[in-house]
Amino acid sequence: MDQTLLFILLLTALCSVSECVQHQYHFLNEKKNWTEAQRYCREKYSDLATVDNMNDMNELKKSVNDRSVQLLWIGLFRVRDSWQWSDQSNSSFRYWYAGEPNNVSPGENCTAVKLNTQGQWHDNFCTNKFPFMCHEDKLIVVKENVTWSEALRYCRQNHVDLVSVHSEEIQRRVMNVVKRASTAAVWLGLHNYCIMNMWLWVSGEMVCYHNWAPGNGTTPENCSLENRKGAVQSGGDQRWISLPESHKLNFICSTY
Ligand SMILES: *[C@@H]1O[C@H](CO)[C@@H](O)[C@H](O)[C@H]1NC(C)=O
Ligand SMILES: *[C@@H]1O[C@H](CO)[C@@H](O)[C@H](O)[C@H]1NC(C)=O
Ligand SMILES: *[C@@H]1O[C@H](CO)[C@@H](O)[C@H](O)[C@H]1NC(C)=O
Ligand SMILES: *[C@@H]1O[C@H](CO)[C@@H](O)[C@H](O)[C@H]1NC(C)=O
Repeated sequence: MDQTLLFILLLTALCSVSECVQHQYHFLNEKKNWTEAQRYCREKYSDLATVDNMNDMNELKKSVNDRSVQLLWIGLFRVRDSWQWSDQSNSSFRYWYAGEPNNVSPGENCTAVKLNTQGQWHDNFCTNKFPFMCHEDKLIVVKENVTWSEALRYCRQNHVDLVSVHSEEIQRRVMNVVKRASTAAVWLGLHNYCIMNMWLWVSGEMVCYHNWAPGNGTTPENCSLENRKGAVQSGGDQRWISLPESHKLNFICSTY
């Protein structure tokens, strides 16, 4: 088969698998207190695990590869009387063990999954040291102001790639994360082949789904000074705009 075709098929397969997954879980089999675990997850992945539903809960349990582990931290913690997620998700899913949270001794403000009770949750002292579960978001905004090429290099070295927004589903995710950016526009993996007057994703895909701001992306670009790249506005309608590649913007990497 034609190599390009194979490549596109492979990408399509990858996309359709990963689009079902909200969180990628990473089990860390080393004992830390809750705050240390949170710090670790924020450095290496996105945050301590958030659980949105029973599917997530099953995924989470599956990713524990050590049967001797009894308890592990997730990202739910108590502030005064309300339970919140470490990543500020508003997920209202709870999977408390009967009678929990019991707060027997005041100060059981952090949540542990107890594996020998089907993974149901127990409140626990944040000072206890347990293994823990991190999650990694599919898209992350990197808040550094860099040119398009620097952004591409950074994503490929540290994650997977600059994000390719080849569906409405991904555009929705982009709109979600891009609010955290500090620049008015944020680089996407979208580049312009000037001679052919054509836009392509760095993943190799054609731009089929699109979300250009009026006047952008449709007319031939003037590339006599600089090539043009695609960015998404971080506010307003969050549409795509065409900019010279030397502009310094935040950017979005895909992580899996
Ligand atoms: C966790 O451990 C760190 C380092 O030992 C300490 O500074 C922190 O106060 C501890 N946090 C909790 C909630 O026990
Ligand atoms: C990036 O640029 C924005 C907007 O000009 C600015 O507010 C922000 O502080 C800059 N960030 C860094 C890390 O330089
Ligand atoms: C592209 O969109 C931006 C934001 O809406 C607008 O300011 C700019 O004029 C547009 N570019 C062209 C060439 O129309
Ligand atoms: C493209 O931009 C350059 C530099 O600004 C200018 O000299 C040239 O006339 C422009 N070409 C077209 C076709 O607009």
